[in-house]
Amino acid sequence: MLFTQLALKNWRNFREVSVDLTERVFLVGPNASGKSNLLDAFRFLRDLAKPGGGLQDALQSRGGLSTVRCLSARNDPTVSIDVSLNNDKGEWRYELEMRQEVRGNRLPLVSKERVWKEGRVLLDRPNQDDQKDQDRLTQTHLEQINANAEFREIGQFFSRVEYLHMVPQLLRHRDAFTGPGVPGDPFGRGLLERIVRTPEKTRRSRLRKIEKALQIAVPQFSSLRDQRDEMGTPHLEVKYEHWRPQGAWQREDQLSDGTLRLLGLLWSLLDGDGVLLLEEPELSLHPGLVAQLPPLIHRLTRSKRRQVFISTHSYDLLKDRGIDAAEILLLQPQKEGSAVVLAASDKEVKALLQSGLTPAEAVIPATTPAGAYQLTLFS
Ligand SMILES: Nc1ncnc2c1ncn2[C@@H]1O[C@H](COP(=O)(O)OP(=O)(O)OP(=O)(O)O)[C@@H](O)[C@H]1O
Ligand SMILES: [Mg+2]
Repeated sequence: MLFTQLALKNWRNFREVSVDLTERVFLVGPNASGKSNLLDAFRFLRDLAKPGGGLQDALQSRGGLSTVRCLSARNDPTVSIDVSLNNDKGEWRYELEMRQEVRGNRLPLVSKERVWKEGRVLLDRPNQDDQKDQDRLTQTHLEQINANAEFREIGQFFSRVEYLHMVPQLLRHRDAFTGPGVPGDPFGRGLLERIVRTPEKTRRSRLRKIEKALQIAVPQFSSLRDQRDEMGTPHLEVKYEHWRPQGAWQREDQLSDGTLRLLGLLWSLLDGDGVLLLEEPELSLHPGLVAQLPPLIHRLTRSKRRQVFISTHSYDLLKDRGIDAAEILLLQPQKEGSAVVLAASDKEVKALLQSGLTPAEAVIPATTPAGAYQLTLFS
């Protein structure tokens, strides 16, 4: 299944946007233009639908509806996410609109929840049951197994959305970052636990593949294995070709930032089959490797028809001529929130691409703040 359209209203720094989505989507825009906020809309759907999740938790973990609601929202107090999806069996649409209770505990409530399949309405809330018992509006039907038999498929699809923004320091110094961690482990702290939980045969086969990739990407890199120490704690061990004939095994706390980030990225690409949200996969990697990320990601997601969203600032990543202008979303900050425009529909960008420029040459200058050069005068 794929997301084919996303419409947001009053979601963070988007007052009202609506965009078509392809199987691979690049999000490009200046700092604070809303790339992570846009990805967060998909994470929010996941948080509604995941086991043990739901509307109240999903909002609370984001600081409440008032934090999520666009600051430039005018009189309209509602926030909404509306997605269209399709798979081989047909088209779906899910719309959720939320608002805060006017009195009492000021709980966030569902003000509209609708599901369509092939244009036919399967759910339209508030319904009679909601009128009788307003408390029902504190939950979506995605989180209620006894209410969503007809559209559980889309809930399961939402619950498999995966987000990766790997922070090598968290993996390297796991003990220093105790506590429950962030749900879904977006920053890679639990990568080793995830690797260890994978059944042995699959784990070995994936680690062999990653080993091969690292042998290409990291000079002197020779082998990769997973090990448990005397306490049963999982570790990844890496061997470099070394002047000593036996070489030396090093644990994850010795590995470079780029090695750890590439490892986490490759594992996420091989693991799971849900929509994958990748935040700036270029970080810490050599430009020569970054240039290879689009075809690599494409190859590893295509066979599973796995949709992938990539936020990026990287010229090297976007210079790949295999990237189509219909796959790039430009985020353009404006007075009252950001606009989201398909690069293919931006006249200027389209003309630059037609003149033979790479996607990077066409979109990066178009999204660079006009006064960026003034930073050189900063004192
Ligand atoms: N409810 C809200 N209303 C308006 N703006 C908001 C709201 N919540 C967050 N923002 C704004 O969104 C911006 C951050 O957006 P985001 O983190 O998505 O940017 P980004 O494009 O990912 O940037 P970077 O490239 O630096 O990672 C901040 O400027 C923040 O003030
Ligand atoms: Mg960001």
